[in-house]
Amino acid sequence: MIKKLTLSALAALTLSVSSAFAAGDAGHTHDVDFSFEGPFGTYDQMQLQRGLKVYTEVCSSCHGLKFVPIRTLADEGGPALPEDQVRAFAAEFPVNDEAANMGLYDFDEGAARALTANDNFPANESQAAPDLSLMAKSRAGFHGPYGTGINQFLKGIGGPEYIVSLLTGYTGEEKVEAGTTFYENTAFPGGWIAMAPPLYGEDVEFDDGHSNELHHEAEDIAAFLMWSAEPKMADRKKAGFLAVSFLVVLTSLLYLTNKKLWAPHKGKEFDL
Ligand code: HEC
Repeated sequence: MIKKLTLSALAALTLSVSSAFAAGDAGHTHDVDFSFEGPFGTYDQMQLQRGLKVYTEVCSSCHGLKFVPIRTLADEGGPALPEDQVRAFAAEFPVNDEAANMGLYDFDEGAARALTANDNFPANESQAAPDLSLMAKSRAGFHGPYGTGINQFLKGIGGPEYIVSLLTGYTGEEKVEAGTTFYENTAFPGGWIAMAPPLYGEDVEFDDGHSNELHHEAEDIAAFLMWSAEPKMADRKKAGFLAVSFLVVLTSLLYLTNKKLWAPHKGKEFDL
């Protein structure tokens, strides 16, 4: 019986391994050590501010961020920009057609009004590029050995790593198919993406003097997109830590109570 079970378990394992290999073209994601990983990890405020700059100056021309309220840029634990800077940022952010359709139309002026801190970032569908608000969570870069999720547990879900790998994964090859240009990319599933390389390095100047080499810019925008997808991560971790500490204390108290309650009866013989 045991032998039979072992054999069928082995067979199942071999099957799943071979189908995982058959799937094949999943793309390559490399690990990056982000400050927000692990049970006590938090966002690096300066990194989020640099990522915001990359988004604003490069990605926003094609990608929207429509689920992110601009005022949250002031949040503690997030980019934590001073309120007046957030207001100035909103007023300067370019308003596109989609933004005007989202209710930002000023009928008196007959034109799209400027954004305020209470608006969300505008959507952008001009280039058929997906919205980036939740991208870092919708793309899991790590699946662990044979889908066990072990890697995800140890290194995070890998969404930001996927974004870094994507932005740095262009090989320089391109091809035109049915009138669309595709660019070869080692991280993109299938290997060919319709997004031209958006970053080459030295695309933005960072105010804090941080290096603007390609991989630094890619890590900064990936961290920013992780924050946009999960702005309350620090609170969630804090609550989790409190819950676990509480359970540890409760467990020890229950253990001691249990010992104390049964102490008088220990070692005695009972007539049952
Ligand atoms: C010139 C327009 C353009 C710019 C600028 C641009 N993108 Fe894209 N992006 C696209 C298009 C188009 C797609 C859809 C590609 C596809 O599905 O083949 C895309 C897709 C993506 C995806 C999704 C890939 C996936 O797994 O489906 C991510 C992530 C992404 N872009 C990130 C960025 C970041 C970060 C920036 C800024 C550094 C940026 N993009 C700048 C046009 C752009």
